[in-house]
Amino acid sequence: MQGKTVASTAVENQTYKVFPNDLNTNGTVFGGLVMSILDRVALVVAERHSEHICATVSVDALHFLTPAYVGEILIFKGSLNRAWNSSMEVGVRVVAENFKTGEHRHVVSVYFTFVALDENNSPTQVPPVIPETKLEKLRYEDAGHRREARIKQAKERKERHLGS
Ligand SMILES: CC(C)(COP(=O)(O)OP(=O)(O)OC[C@H]1O[C@@H](n2cnc3c(N)ncnc32)[C@H](O)[C@@H]1OP(=O)(O)O)[C@@H](O)C(=O)NCCC(=O)NCCS
Repeated sequence: MQGKTVASTAVENQTYKVFPNDLNTNGTVFGGLVMSILDRVALVVAERHSEHICATVSVDALHFLTPAYVGEILIFKGSLNRAWNSSMEVGVRVVAENFKTGEHRHVVSVYFTFVALDENNSPTQVPPVIPETKLEKLRYEDAGHRREARIKQAKERKERHLGS
């Protein structure tokens, strides 16, 4: 299967303008809204790469670093870090832009794992990814370590459930 570059499937600058109905009771952007857009952006990357329908199988810990406010612009950037057999890790970063001052703040970054599905909804092979830049190569390496940790945790969860 022919590999694909990271750039060929990346979501570069998906913007979302924050309106008053996007806020929580605290007056800042509702985290669930951001999570939903994150999942969609990551899904676009996974489906572009695999050319299959994909399912979200896992989301790593998600830490909101700073609030975002009404009127600001959220900018989502997503790219494929690594692909294995049927699964892929996609990283998405969100920054908030204040268009008046030009200030950019890092709001959240997260790693999603997707599985590509065939016509029977069974996992199916995906192409390898070709990391080109220094940063893409670093992300590729780091994704390998994260996958090991996820698989270990999934195995432990399964054993706990079987034991109960
Ligand atoms: C996606 C799904 C079909 C995969 O089925 P499965 O029986 O887990 O398949 P497998 O065990 O063969 O795993 C498939 C791949 O997922 C990976 N995987 C499974 N669980 C994982 C986890 N918790 N974290 C990371 N990767 C995981 C496996 O390592 C494997 O990767 P590889 O093919 O690249 O080696 C199934 O888990 C599913 O339907 N999950 C629900 C998905 C869903 O509904 N998402 C929306 C949430 S509302």
